Amino acid sequence: TLHTHVGPPGSGKGTQSPIIKDEYCLCHLATGDMLRAAVAAKTPLGVKAKEAMDKGELVSDDLVVGIIDEAMKKPSCQKGFILDGFPRTVVQAQKLDEMLKNQGAKIDKVLNFAVDDAILEERITGRWIHPSSGRSYHTKFAPPKTPGVDDVTGEPLIQRKDDTAPVLKSRLEAFHKQTEPVIGYYSQKGIVANLKAEKPPQEVTSEVHKVLSS
Ligand code: AP5
Ligand code: ZN
Repeated sequence: TLHTHVGPPGSGKGTQSPIIKDEYCLCHLATGDMLRAAVAAKTPLGVKAKEAMDKGELVSDDLVVGIIDEAMKKPSCQKGFILDGFPRTVVQAQKLDEMLKNQGAKIDKVLNFAVDDAILEERITGRWIHPSSGRSYHTKFAPPKTPGVDDVTGEPLIQRKDDTAPVLKSRLEAFHKQTEPVIGYYSQKGIVANLKAEKPPQEVTSEVHKVLSS
């Protein structure tokens, strides 16, 4: 199985991915998480990606296609993948198709996390994450058992540097300009499933189950 989660910042891609990953034993590849790890470790990739990320702009196609290509070769990912936040441009989608074709594979489903822009600011500014696992919380919608602490590891939670109202504005612009056409690209192939991602998290999870079992 191979499916990808496409949606605006704060639409719930990262919230739903770990749940699905555990249930279906899939490998969760989130380009945002991988890039943030590279930035934190100050690797050459991280140094190149940081400026665009801080501004809420997309990192270059070559960089992200490179990290996905690398990650998909991991032997631990044999049962399949959930791609989260990739592809985000039509060029990335075309490159991904090529990469998969060479391995005799293809994308089964594209989950479109549809959410109106107006509700995203509250979701984004209230988010807290556990960086090493990618788990995300929300002060109002999904609070941790102890404020500021990860439920599983007891480690501290942090806020993302790009989770401010002004940077969100650029991220939304990038989404509408560069990423929405990706949904059109996959619609032509008849593999897009539209989720009502404005519902509470558990209801979105049931929708995802329905899509994946159909
Ligand atoms: P990335 O990390 O992918 O950020 P994003 O796309 O902006 O998405 P988010 O992580 O903000 O949203 P999400 O949908 O995962 O929301 P979440 O589930 O956490 O990318 C960051 C940057 O990296 C980009 O700006 C770019 O620079 C670069 N980049 C990454 N991939 C790239 C690529 N392919 N090409 C080029 N550049 C790339 O939910 C948000 C909050 O809401 C949480 O607090 C959560 O608890 C809460 N919540 C979730 N669901 C619900 C619900 N149903 N109801 C109420 N609250 C909810
Ligand atoms: Zn995310």
